[in-house]
Amino acid sequence: MRAASQAQPNIALVKYWGKRDAALNLPVVGSISITLESLWTRTDVRFVPGHKEDRVSLNGRSDEAEGKRIKACLNLLRERAGVDYGAEVASRNNFPTAAGLASSASGFAALVHAGARALGLDLSLAEQSVLARRCSGSAARSLFGGYVEWAHGTLADGTDSVARPLLDAEAWPLRVAVAITSTAAKQVGSTEGMRRTAETSPYQSAWIDTQETDLGVARDAIRERDFDALARIAEYSCLKMHALALAAQPGLLYWNGATVECMHRVRALRQQGVPVFFTVDAGPQVKAVCAPSAIEQVKAALRDVAGVLDVLDTALGEGARAIVPEAVEA
Ligand code: DP6
Repeated sequence: MRAASQAQPNIALVKYWGKRDAALNLPVVGSISITLESLWTRTDVRFVPGHKEDRVSLNGRSDEAEGKRIKACLNLLRERAGVDYGAEVASRNNFPTAAGLASSASGFAALVHAGARALGLDLSLAEQSVLARRCSGSAARSLFGGYVEWAHGTLADGTDSVARPLLDAEAWPLRVAVAITSTAAKQVGSTEGMRRTAETSPYQSAWIDTQETDLGVARDAIRERDFDALARIAEYSCLKMHALALAAQPGLLYWNGATVECMHRVRALRQQGVPVFFTVDAGPQVKAVCAPSAIEQVKAALRDVAGVLDVLDTALGEGARAIVPEAVEA
C-alpha cells in the first residue's frame, strides 16, 4: 500500500486563470504549458489500514493549509478505491514552495500518481490528470511531459477537462531560466486571485472570448517549432492575464521591481536577435524560455538585474513517473 512518484512543475505559455466550477475545479479557458526537467517534487504515499488520520510532511514540516488540500486529494483517491484508510505522506521539493513556481502543480501530480499506485488503482495518465485537476488546476498538466494542453472541456462532470501531450520535450528542446526575485510566499494565492478577478475585473469576458484564438496560435507555433510565433503568443497571454488580474479590486500585483526589469531585459535581448521570451505566473519570478544555444547569455543577463537573487536553469522534461520511496528523502 506504498508508492512514490516524482513530477515536475509546468509553466503555462497560454495561461489558465479563472474557474467555471470551483467544486470540480473546471477552468473558464483551456491552457498550454511546458513541463520542466530539473525542478521536482518527490512524494511517498503509504496507506495504513486501520488508521483514521492522515499524516503529511512537506519538506520535513507539517503545513496546515497545504495539509487540508492534500487531505482533500487523498479523499478523492480513497473514494475511487472504496477505502477509508489514513495515509502517511512525505513530500519534498528541490525548489522554493509557494513563490509562483507551480509547486502545487508538481505536488498534486506526484501525489495522485503515487497515491493511485499505492491503492492499487489502475488509472491512465488521463484519468490521473482529471483527479490532479480537481486538486489544483495546473497539476492536470504535470502528469505529462514536454508541451501539454489542458482542455476547457464541455461535460458537466468535468471528465473531458483533461490534459494531453502536444509534443515531446526532445522534439523541441527549449531551455528555461528562472529568475528568482523573492523567496517569500505569495500574498494572494491563485485560487483566491482567480475568484477575486472573476468577481471584480471588467476584463473577464474579454479574457474568455480571446483564449481560443490564442490556443490555436500556440498549437500551430508548437507544431511548426516556430520560436518567434511562440514568443509573441506567450508574452501576449502572460501580459493579458496580468492585465486582467491587475484590474481586479483590489488589484492583484504579483510583480516587484526586479520582475519588471527582467521582462525589459528579455525583450532587449530578443531585439538583439537572441531567441528568448518571458512569462510570469501568480508570483514575482520571471521564467525566460530560450533556445539551448542562448541559455548562458540569458542567465548572465538575468543575473545582472538588481534584485535577482538567483537564476535556476532547466531543460524541458517528462511527465510524472514512479520512483523508489528512498529517493524522496535522499
Ligand atoms: C498563473 O493551478 O495554482 O500559474 O487551480 O486554484 O490550484 P488552482 O490554481 P493553480 O493556478 C495556476 C495559475 C497560473 C497560470 C497557469 O499555470 O496556467
